[in-house]
Amino acid sequence: MSIAVVNEIKSLREIVKNYRKEGKTIALVPTMGCLHEGHKSLMQKAHSIADVTIISVFVNPIQFCPGEDYDKYPRTLDADKIVAESAGVDVIFAPSVNEMYPGLQKFSDLTMVVPPYELTDIMCGKSRVGHFDGVETVVSKLFNIVQPDFACFGMKDIQQLFLIKKMVRDLNFPVEIIPCPLVREESGLALSSRNKYLSDSDKQIALSISKAIFAIRDLYRAGVTDTKKLFDAGLTNLHKNVELEYLEFVDENTFKPVDVVKSNTICAIAARVGNVRLIDNIVLEV
Ligand code: PAF
Repeated sequence: MSIAVVNEIKSLREIVKNYRKEGKTIALVPTMGCLHEGHKSLMQKAHSIADVTIISVFVNPIQFCPGEDYDKYPRTLDADKIVAESAGVDVIFAPSVNEMYPGLQKFSDLTMVVPPYELTDIMCGKSRVGHFDGVETVVSKLFNIVQPDFACFGMKDIQQLFLIKKMVRDLNFPVEIIPCPLVREESGLALSSRNKYLSDSDKQIALSISKAIFAIRDLYRAGVTDTKKLFDAGLTNLHKNVELEYLEFVDENTFKPVDVVKSNTICAIAARVGNVRLIDNIVLEV
């Protein structure tokens, strides 16, 4: 059966209802489209754990801050269909903005899901004020629309994954969150839809971001646990044209900063190459 593309919530609910009548389990992969191998691994994971795989393709306006790339964010639904089909996806839910936020004039009119301030006033949330409110709100809506048994999220967006797991616990969403490993190019660069904005020379510069975190990992494996020393090693590896936003070491269970790395500390970085903001992370394990 070929992949179905559904634009309306009502039609999607009807499809989901029929799958449920047949006793099928459902896995959801929320995306903003421009699908790459990283998304493909999420979709394949979803396909392997549930009877039905549904992905959403929706560039969510309320998670972009003023001045960010909402307008130019790549929208590639035809190409996305091919990638999704090859990963075993059954349904693509691709709603319009009006379908998701009917009649919305301004974001402040909307009922929002807001994660705790101390977990968003750090790392990505510090520079992207309100971003995670937009993410949690749209993900809650998608959970309510699809009512999946499982939802797959990539570990590249590690703060997002942490906050969504917490939201699911705090708000009792009946869904199991499946974290999926970050996928890299052979060069080491973490896959991202925003890599499309990088010129070849920018890409070479951007490579120093993964080099920095690999250098940190190697030093940690060699026995260095002081985050100041690890931070400096990361910094030395960053290309001079990379503008560092943060390089943090946080406990994977609390997301609180740590001075001394223990097993399962997350080392996360955000940096800009030209106008392109990139993130990467690694879980430090011996
Ligand atoms: O990770 C993303 O692509 C987005 O933040 C998500 C989870 C699809 C919500 O819009």
